Formats: sequence, C-alpha cells, structure tokens
Amino acid sequence: MRILVTRRWPDAVERALSERFDVVLNESDTPLSQTELGEAMGAFDVLAPTVSDRIDTEVIAGGDRCKLIANYGVGFDHIDIAAASAKGIAVTNTPGVLTDATADLALTLILMAARRAGEGERELRAGEWSGWRPTHLIGSALKDKVLGVVGFGRIGQATAQRAHHGFGMKIAYFARGPKDEAAALDAEFCPSLPDLLAKSDFVSLHVPGGDDTANLIDTKALSAMKPGSYLINTARGGVVDHDALAQALKSGHLAGAGLDVYPQEPQVPEALLGLENVVLLPHLGSATAETREAMGMRALANIEAFAKGEPLPDPVQ
Ligand code: DGY
Repeated sequence: MRILVTRRWPDAVERALSERFDVVLNESDTPLSQTELGEAMGAFDVLAPTVSDRIDTEVIAGGDRCKLIANYGVGFDHIDIAAASAKGIAVTNTPGVLTDATADLALTLILMAARRAGEGERELRAGEWSGWRPTHLIGSALKDKVLGVVGFGRIGQATAQRAHHGFGMKIAYFARGPKDEAAALDAEFCPSLPDLLAKSDFVSLHVPGGDDTANLIDTKALSAMKPGSYLINTARGGVVDHDALAQALKSGHLAGAGLDVYPQEPQVPEALLGLENVVLLPHLGSATAETREAMGMRALANIEAFAKGEPLPDPVQ
C-alpha cells in the first residue's frame, strides 16, 4: 500500500508509518501544487494531507487509485467531502487529541488581548518603554466577565472549563441545543447568536469551518457585540468577515481581538496588520509536541485500520 504524506510529521510518527508501509514523504515540507495533489490521487492508495492542502473536486478527480484521505487534523473543511464520497473515497480526521492544546491557545489569545501583551512586547522590543506608570497599557480583568462560547463541542467546552475554573469567568454558550456538560460550568445556554453576542465580554469561536459558518461573524454580528468586548478565533478564518472586524477594531467598538486562523492562510488580511489591538498568531492551536505526535498516531491508526479492511476509527462521512 502506497501512502503520500504531504507535509513533514513528527519523527516518531514518520518512523512508525515508514516501518509499516511504503511511504513517500514530502521532504521539502512546502505545499504541493494542486496538480501534484491531483496526480497523487492516481499514484497512491492513501493521501495524508493537512489543513494547508486544498483537496477540492479537481484534485479528487485527478486519479482513481486513492481510496483513503487520512487527514492530519480535526477540521476537514479543506476537503470536498461530497466529491470524495461520490468516488467511494473514505475520509478520516484526528478528533479529541488536539482539544487541550487548542483550548490552551484560545486562553492564550484571551489573556494576550485582554492584557495587551502583544502591544507591550512590541513597545519594549522597539526600545520605546519609558518605565512603569499607573496608566500604562491598561487592559481588562477576566474574573466575573462573561465568556460567550460559540459552538459548545469538545474544544468550546475545554476553553470554557479553563476560563471558568482557572480565571473565574462566567460562561454563556450558543449551540444547536442545551448541553448536559454545561451544568458543571454553570453555563447559560443562549438560543440565539445575537443574544450571546450582546451579553458577552469575550466571544470565543469554536464552530467548524465551511459553508454553514462562512462569515457567521459579519458586520451585523459584530455590531451586536457589546461595546468594548473582544473576539477570539481559534476555529477557522472563514467564520469571520475580516474587513468588518478591522472596522470594528478601528472604531473602538471592539476593544480587541485574538486570531489564530485566517481565510486564505498563510495570507493575513492586510487591514488587520497595522492594528495594535489585535493579536495575530500563525495557526498554532495544535502546536505542541505532544499533540502533533498524537495527531500523527491517530492518522496512523486510521491508515492501519484501512489497510486491514477494519472499520475506520474516525470516519467523517
Ligand atoms: C485542525 O486540526 O483542524 C487544526 O486547525 C490544525 O491543527
């Protein structure tokens, strides 16, 4: 069975994979072109892509050999699932193993935005810090503030737990329906997004990407947010209209934002780059050694099950 791994994976996972299968690694660790990905569909039994690969209809139509797309990551909005299903190609992901790392990063962004950490670091490195003073870079406390969680799945809940138990925040959430897990966090269910936005001091996004959530946070949603509140996004860039966000940050309607994801990565919306009150990270949600290895092992478990003809542990269709 031939496998193409489109980017470098942690050493231990590459070793484990290579011991069991005929694996081609993309040694250059730069994104493959759409043509190369399409050709791979005809040359490999398994394609193991990441969020940086666009596995669209044309790529999927590129060949008939591939019967498993084993994604290294939990989000799969970069893969045309309908086109894969129509060709009988199974798609798997790596759920569960990046929950804690991503929730940790959401808290990192909440803290950095609230305490103006990026601004402070830029000022200091530029040699512009004039010393301690009572009015210098004043931010916001977290205790007793409302964290509005949009999407209350694994990562949304883990973020809420940290914010509530670690920082004394109150939790409200917007999801398809109330969730039992909310009771332990004393979390309030909001049946409508505008309700949640209007009562939250911080809004953290934890919904999947794709057509259903595209521009969920648009001009209207941003104006429904509380004046002086903060927007945090560790989910997918397409969930936010970034021009509208830049406007809300410039006008001061929002006090700040913390972003880890963008619609056309690695491009970062120009309008945000010059703003002081936004923290911009380069898609680091799952970037811990432990998590990246666990993601690889999970992808490997799916590939092994596929090779043995066993039920796949993490099918997404
Ligand atoms: C995912 O897994 O979906 C992340 O965004 C990449 O780590």
